[in-house]
Amino acid sequence: MQNLSKLSPTFPAARPRRLRQSDGLRRLVRQTTLTPADFIYPMFIVHGQGVRHEVSSMPGVYQQSPDQLPAEAAELGRLGIPAVMLFGLPAEKDPLGRENFADDGIVQQAIRTLRQADPELVIMTDVCMCEYTDHGHCGVVEDGQILNDPTLEILGQVAVSHARAGAHVVGPSAMMDGQVGAIRRALDEAGFPNMPIMGYSAKFASGFYGPFREAADSPPQFGDRSTYQMDPANGREAMREIALDINEGADIIMVKPALPYLDIIRQARDTFPDLPLAAYNVSGEYSMLKAASRLGWLDEKRVALESLIAIKRAGADMILTYWAKDAAHWLAG
Ligand code: PBG
Repeated sequence: MQNLSKLSPTFPAARPRRLRQSDGLRRLVRQTTLTPADFIYPMFIVHGQGVRHEVSSMPGVYQQSPDQLPAEAAELGRLGIPAVMLFGLPAEKDPLGRENFADDGIVQQAIRTLRQADPELVIMTDVCMCEYTDHGHCGVVEDGQILNDPTLEILGQVAVSHARAGAHVVGPSAMMDGQVGAIRRALDEAGFPNMPIMGYSAKFASGFYGPFREAADSPPQFGDRSTYQMDPANGREAMREIALDINEGADIIMVKPALPYLDIIRQARDTFPDLPLAAYNVSGEYSMLKAASRLGWLDEKRVALESLIAIKRAGADMILTYWAKDAAHWLAG
């Protein structure tokens, strides 16, 4: 045997394996922990009665009618998951997405049902246009262009409509410039100064949203979203987007997607230490691990929990994830 002290000046004094010898020791020195209270559960709501339709590209994720929600709320409560994020699929689409801000719109119905089912559940809503518009873009379209400022007015109306129905947090995700400020003003003027805004601040134009567009029936009918969502290559610009949202009054900031953007999550955590930071573990991140697990190539529980802990370790305070319920089960042992 060679002389081990020659290997490095720190060896053999330093042996990190000492603290990995037992589960108890590993638990004691664990830096990052995951709890069900970290999760926000995204849900897709459709019109109808008794509808529970599995999304083919997202096994375990359902499009559901409002009557299914009390049972969901009860399950989330039992599991200790504090919040949901609601997405609606309207009965009809049109250029402006009118159901988005209708009193009896699908999300508005879902909000009322959930509030009645469980007053403790935090109801967050996605404020965007793509699920509601016939062109599938996140803003007002004219001559093939996605118009910024006319969209702000509609987003304000949507947020106020969600607030009136009883939502607790609104999450603007359209990536229009000034959307947080416009929504803040609209909410304040409508008498909702206490409604928090979670800005989808650094939202990248990502291929990982693919399965979501099936779940929410929201693919753009022409072009893509690269004139409003961020270029995946840009880290500094992500910090600028977050700073703008904070200046406009965002209460919670977000990075989306999560796994391919852990560097952005870390940078956001370090640059903006004062605000809660959310990360969206998006549909494609879920589907790819689901698919590989179904093929027997990965152990779903292991890779899902590893992904979630990585997102938290990178600096996220809360995670929007389709695994919320499964992960809560797994964490409970
Ligand atoms: C709406 C919206 C999208 C997602 C959340 N809100 C889709 C998109 O921007 O195309 C994606 C979520 C996911 O992939 O899980 N604009």
